[in-house]
Amino acid sequence: RPCVWKILMAAMCVALLSGLQAQDLPRQVSIILLGATGDLARKYLWQGLFHLYLEEVGKGHHFRFHGTALTSTEQGQEVIAKVLESLSCPGDMASGHCAELKAQFQQLSEYRQLKTPEDYVALSKDIEAQVEHEGLRETGRIFYLSVPPFAYVDIARNINSSCRPGPGAWLRVVLEKPFGHDLHSAQQLATELGSFFQEEEMYRVDHYLGKQVVAQILPFRDQNRAALDGLWNRHHVERVEIVMKETLDAEVSFQSLCVPSSVPCYTPGCPQASPGW
Ligand SMILES: *[C@@H]1O[C@H](CO)[C@@H](O)[C@H](O)[C@H]1NC(C)=O
Repeated sequence: RPCVWKILMAAMCVALLSGLQAQDLPRQVSIILLGATGDLARKYLWQGLFHLYLEEVGKGHHFRFHGTALTSTEQGQEVIAKVLESLSCPGDMASGHCAELKAQFQQLSEYRQLKTPEDYVALSKDIEAQVEHEGLRETGRIFYLSVPPFAYVDIARNINSSCRPGPGAWLRVVLEKPFGHDLHSAQQLATELGSFFQEEEMYRVDHYLGKQVVAQILPFRDQNRAALDGLWNRHHVERVEIVMKETLDAEVSFQSLCVPSSVPCYTPGCPQASPGW
């Protein structure tokens, strides 16, 4: 009888432990930035990832950041090392604390070339091995595509076939401006991407859309109700024109401004013949 009791106890312990293992292991999210050596990534995205890290690290989440591009590993590592060195903390953070967190972030970030289907397979395997090695549980993977749209489909194919996380973990793919170059190419791209990803797995963003300015229009009106209510309405506003000055890649960004069909395009260089874009 004591033997049965022992076996029962052991079985219960195993069940408890495996339950614990599945649920209570610290969770990791892997963030894979494609186009990590590009202008936008160097100027904004790495800094954005660092801020995300600063906000989330205290909440018990674990992160890994994989910067990737077509650039050779050696050259890319050099670029990324410089970018990581230049990251800045919020102004109110003590410099010692900032240095410590920056060093942690640098430790968690790597650069690797992501070019061939084999590279994608290797990335996925490396993530799995690292998560297991550190006793973590993979919660999800975010692929952030800071690449030209013509590269989307190949990348999407590789992610779908070789880089999906295991069962129980989610996949998110962020697609960044411009989404095709006219209505037809946008629809075609949407169809192709839809064959690789579920709708809830895709996020389409356009940072050149003057998002911050546009987002402030309503709050501005709201805060100035007394003065503006009688004027800011459809009887008095014929159109909203948004102009954004860019020195870099100006043609592309002007085109991007024409995306929402409710905002007519009055910017020079916009394709007038294709309304909606
Ligand atoms: C996506 O990947 C799955 C699993 O490898 C595969 O069965 C499916 O055919 C892929 N989808 C496309 C459109 O290639």
